[in-house]
Amino acid sequence: MAVFVASPVMADVQQADFDSIRLYTLKNSSGMEISVTNFGAIITSIKVPDRDGKFDDVALGYDSVDKYINAVDKPYFGAVVGRYGNRIAEGTFKLDGQTYTLAKNNPPNHLHGGIIGFDKVVWNAETKSTDRGDAVVLRYTAKDMEEGYPGKLDVTVTYTLTNDNEVIIDYHATTTKATPVNLTQHTYFNLKGEGRGTILDHELLINAKRFTPVDETLIPTGELAPVSGTPFDFTEAKAIGRDIGQDHQQLKFGLGYDHNFVLDREGKGMALAARVHEPISGRVLEVTTTEPGVQFYCGNFLDGRLTGKSGQPYVHRGGFCLETQHFPDSPNQPEYPSTILRPGKAYETTTKWKFTVKE
Ligand code: GLA
Repeated sequence: MAVFVASPVMADVQQADFDSIRLYTLKNSSGMEISVTNFGAIITSIKVPDRDGKFDDVALGYDSVDKYINAVDKPYFGAVVGRYGNRIAEGTFKLDGQTYTLAKNNPPNHLHGGIIGFDKVVWNAETKSTDRGDAVVLRYTAKDMEEGYPGKLDVTVTYTLTNDNEVIIDYHATTTKATPVNLTQHTYFNLKGEGRGTILDHELLINAKRFTPVDETLIPTGELAPVSGTPFDFTEAKAIGRDIGQDHQQLKFGLGYDHNFVLDREGKGMALAARVHEPISGRVLEVTTTEPGVQFYCGNFLDGRLTGKSGQPYVHRGGFCLETQHFPDSPNQPEYPSTILRPGKAYETTTKWKFTVKE
């Protein structure tokens, strides 16, 4: 465990909170390593072997908390986003007859839990050894009406590193009042290694025959549209860059891929969300989840201004995110799977990242 250098640059965070920021590193029997800080529950690095056994850090990020806080354009590198990951139209929703108003921090919409979402608070952390592997358990209690959301929300996120080179992310939450909850993990991957150019050559498969098209502000229109015959068809693996330049209105709205896909699943339980293969290193990332959707975002807002932990600029499309989640704007779209958590019920979801290599 190491202290992760921090200074109190945010007005309403106390020095004591900053003093409690730590970095936890887990290592498994094959040498895979992940580092996690209790600031924002951020995964700061993921070191995995390539097909020759050479380790690289495949997660974009920084070596100091200040850089996470001050990064231009708020990339949410590695963080848990919440209380509601993704967008809520015009920062408002109605629940049980009451209207709630949230920050429009991604005008005209609300994004990733607001101004000080779960990515910018200090969590309690402990490490533990489990049957599956070593884990970091992070806990945060959001106050009733924090960022405008009703209900005191007790959240636990557990990162477990298994000896099979898997990172298992278990989310758990309970509330004192009915509230929307949609927690996800915002790690940007570059399977060549962070800072090594774009991810456009990574081959991606998404287990989804449909996606949720958006308006120009990235709010879903409500339609579940077939991907077939569009650049959004990743049902068979293809390079991320293959169709990204096509003249398609949805790609214009997203400035590339920044869309939620409706996962093909049978019932509840873990289902495949996506598989990514990087041909040079041979690294493969497989994402499985209990969630109904995955937001595929390919770093369209990166532009080389942010410099990562190894001193390399994070270029346009220098990382991709696979944010397993419920659909964007669910609190305003009654036909979507519900994101409302009620007192007495538990919010429980799991996502797994499995790293392998292909010869
Ligand atoms: C999500 C959003 C994107 C962008 C990133 C952070 O993936 O969908 O539009 O805001 O987070 O830069």
